[in-house]
Amino acid sequence: MEKQVKVLVEQCLSALDALPTELKAASAAIAEIKVKYLGKSGSLTALLRSMRDLPADERPAFGALVNDAQDRLKAAIDGAEAVLDAKILAERLSGEKVDITLPGKDKTPGTLHPITLVANEVQEIFLNLGFELSEGPEIETDNYNFQMLNIPSEHAARDMQDTFFVTDSIVLRTHTSPNQARIMEKKQPPIKMICPGRTYRSDDDATHSPIFHQIEGLVVDKRVTMSDLKGTLDLFCKTMFSPETKTRLRPSYFPFTEPSVEVDMSCSSCGGSGCGLCKGTGWIEILGAGIVNPKVLENCGIDSSVYGGFAFGMGIERIAMIKYGIPDIRLFFENDVRFLRQFKG
Ligand code: FA5
Repeated sequence: MEKQVKVLVEQCLSALDALPTELKAASAAIAEIKVKYLGKSGSLTALLRSMRDLPADERPAFGALVNDAQDRLKAAIDGAEAVLDAKILAERLSGEKVDITLPGKDKTPGTLHPITLVANEVQEIFLNLGFELSEGPEIETDNYNFQMLNIPSEHAARDMQDTFFVTDSIVLRTHTSPNQARIMEKKQPPIKMICPGRTYRSDDDATHSPIFHQIEGLVVDKRVTMSDLKGTLDLFCKTMFSPETKTRLRPSYFPFTEPSVEVDMSCSSCGGSGCGLCKGTGWIEILGAGIVNPKVLENCGIDSSVYGGFAFGMGIERIAMIKYGIPDIRLFFENDVRFLRQFKG
């Protein structure tokens, strides 16, 4: 047995001495030698296994002998690998030339996402009109998302917003309107705030996304009228799109505003003469709005015989799609840099 160990060690060492000169072939040969002598089914491992056939008193000495042989071979193989690595590196370096006159790699600076750009633009318009910025939670209670806004359970209006429920009483907010209630509960009028944020609905096509962004607006004070609503939103559209933009109000329905309206603006692409964007009508629906329902004021502890208000909510993706002529909402979420790079602010 001892002799067998000696022979194996010698065989392995002479195989390492006779490595091919070509570097790739040498590397493959070393890998083969490693498996052949030290691998799980290698010769030395097999010898160790055969130790059980020896008388018990001979085993410790034999075990030590095989372990010692294993250590020697491992060291020899590691050494051969180190020599080979050094040769490979030297060969690579001698073949490589660094041209220090080449220009550096161009780093393209990032840009803000178009949704952020448009949201900032919308916010700035309202901040300049004296609105304050506020925020609310994206994971919202049924109470704020619906009930405080005059949408009790079983109300048909709940079907207007395909809701993601977290539990029976917790939802992913379907609109930014719950922040109206949150603000009015905390603060007595005058109130003049906007609330931008992410909103969620189980909705998915070229113009609807399960995640989208809205900006809510709320004004509550004494003697707030529909003219204030119309004047504010008309000014918004003129500033956001062009001074020639016209607006009109159409009757609509939201449980939290009474009366409720949809605000249309003259088509930003054709100016009102009719085109593909406005489906030939000359008008584009841009947001929902209305006079705050007195029930909502009362739900929030505001005396509706003294105060009134108007509110509005718009989709940021929709504004961005109209402004930039983007045909499919999914482009905002695919994060293709070729699309995103076009928006530099
Ligand atoms: C609302 O969400 C009301 N909370 C708006 C409101 C606020 C009315 C205050 C009155 C007073 P609506 O469901 O229409 O309304 O949504 C408003 C806008 O959000 C839509 O005009 C549209 O631009 C956008 N929107 C709605 N669902 C989606 C969706 N799945 N993907 C992208 N945008 C959407």
